Amino acid sequence: MIWLDNAATTLTKPYSVGAAVARAMREAASVGRGAHRPGALAAETVFEAREIADSLFNAGGPERVVFTCNATHALNIALRSFDLKGKRAVVSGWEHNSVVRPLAAAGAEIVPAAGPLFDREANLRAFERALTPDTARAAVCHVSNVFGFILPVEEIGEICRARGIPLVVDASQSAGVLPIDLQGVGADFIAMPGHKSLLGPQGTGLLLVGENAPIRPLLAGGTGSVSLSREMPDFLPDALEAGTHNVPGIAGLAEGMRFVASRGTEAILAHERGLAREAARLLERTGRARCFISDDPDAQTGVLSFEIEGMDSQTAALRLGEAGVAVRGGLHCAPLAHESAGTEGTVRASFSVFNTLSDAEGLARAVARL
Ligand code: ALA
Repeated sequence: MIWLDNAATTLTKPYSVGAAVARAMREAASVGRGAHRPGALAAETVFEAREIADSLFNAGGPERVVFTCNATHALNIALRSFDLKGKRAVVSGWEHNSVVRPLAAAGAEIVPAAGPLFDREANLRAFERALTPDTARAAVCHVSNVFGFILPVEEIGEICRARGIPLVVDASQSAGVLPIDLQGVGADFIAMPGHKSLLGPQGTGLLLVGENAPIRPLLAGGTGSVSLSREMPDFLPDALEAGTHNVPGIAGLAEGMRFVASRGTEAILAHERGLAREAARLLERTGRARCFISDDPDAQTGVLSFEIEGMDSQTAALRLGEAGVAVRGGLHCAPLAHESAGTEGTVRASFSVFNTLSDAEGLARAVARL
């Protein structure tokens, strides 16, 4: 099987990830729940993971790294931290439902701001125009999960800061691929999954909490701290981490982040982007595919959407899967992104650090045979 669904989840992980998960399952208990060696090992494991994430994402301290079940959980904490009922929330035109649905559930008036695909300047200007004085909140994905389009989050962060508008960044497709700097962007929150390009297990996620962000727990429960109080602790990370941690998952995630730190996001991005661009060239050569590829290589990661002439994207993805090439078809839980690009669904091939040129060639061969 050629795995090209890395934007959904990376399947190949560094060996150290699985080894750390297995060790934690055998030897670690819960954080802050017992004065025994397995409890201490759990606490050390989770704290070390916080330190790695803090240094990788410039969070401003390990306590500003909150562990969650996934990026959606992290985004829900972030987006529910403000009262948004009836308030204007500006989003990019490329958001996933993990941003759109929590905003809708909070009763926000969602205002998408999009420019043409891969045109960062036009998207930035559209975003800026949408930020009226009554905007309560802005949320933006760093990279589109459908097209790999890299949005100018640093500039968006600057504009939001200048206007005093709280910003949430969804780094689901950028964590492990692009540099992420919480303090540099000045976002209130940055949310990310552990199981995509950070190469950790499914069921792990991270929420980076900015120094001026409001702290509003989504869940209440045991934290192993201030147990006499019926209120959640008001300090980080406990305030946002009710219940037992996914210690094996976090142990694996720590190893995934170590791998990313040692390889470096610049090299990882160059590898994945190079494969996606080569795949696009080979796909176009089959005469069957129309690829969404940016003229400016800097505007796109290793995520490549394409359409197959005369075949809907779900059928094409199914047939490619039967031929041993795993891709994702349809809307990718991001109908807004398809609306902004004017597509009704695409086939998406997404490359990871572990893919090779022969995977791109295998994809093009399989498409040619459809
Ligand atoms: N959001 C993930 C994807 O794009 C699951 O496939």
